[in-house]
Amino acid sequence: MTRHALFHAAFVSIALLAAPAAASEAPIDQEAIAYRKEIMKTLEAQFNALAGIIAFDGPADNLKSHLETVLITARMVLPSFEKRAPGGTSQPYLWDDWAGYTRHMQEFEAAVAMAIEAAKHNSLNQVIWYTDQISCRKCHDAYKQKGVSGGVEYLGY
Ligand code: HEC
Repeated sequence: MTRHALFHAAFVSIALLAAPAAASEAPIDQEAIAYRKEIMKTLEAQFNALAGIIAFDGPADNLKSHLETVLITARMVLPSFEKRAPGGTSQPYLWDDWAGYTRHMQEFEAAVAMAIEAAKHNSLNQVIWYTDQISCRKCHDAYKQKGVSGGVEYLGY
C-alpha cells in the first residue's frame, strides 16, 4: 500500500461519519481533528495500563515507563492543536484562549514529571499518590464539550 493509500484508508471512514458542514462554513479540518484525537487516545491507553498495573499488582517497574510515555505523548498535545481547527469535541473557544490551554497542558506535564520522579525514588504508594494528582479532567472540564460522542466522562480521570 502506498503512503497515499494508507492516508486515505485511515481518514476516509472518519470523513464519512462527519456531518456535512453548511455551505457558508469553512470546511472542517477532519485530518487535524483525527490526529489530535489519536494523541488523546494514546494518553488514555497509557492511563488504562497504569490503572491495570495498580489494580492487579502488575509489574511495578513498568509504572515509570508508562509515565514517561505519557510525558512524551503530552508534549505532542499542543502541537496537535496548534492548527486552528474547531470541531471534534473541543470547545470552539479553545483557540481564542490559547494561553489558558497552554497553561493547563504545562500543569499536566509538571504533574506527570513529579510522578516520574516518584517512580524513580519512592515507594509504590507514593507513586500512586503522585499519579492520582495527574488530572485529565481539569482540562476536559474547561476545553472539551460534554454530552457528545467521543467523550471520556465515564473514565473519571
Ligand atoms: C490540556 C488539555 C487536555 C489534557 C491535559 C487532556 N486532554 Fe484529553 N482532550 C482534550 C480536548 C480539547 C479534547 C477534545 C479533542 C477533539 O475532539 O477535538 C480531548 C479529548 C480526549 C479524548 C477523546 C478522543 C476522541 O476520540 O474523541 C480522550 C480519550 C482523552 N481526551 C483522553 C485524555 C486522557 C486520558 C488524559 C489524561 C491522561 C487527557 N485526555 C488529558 C484536552 C486535554
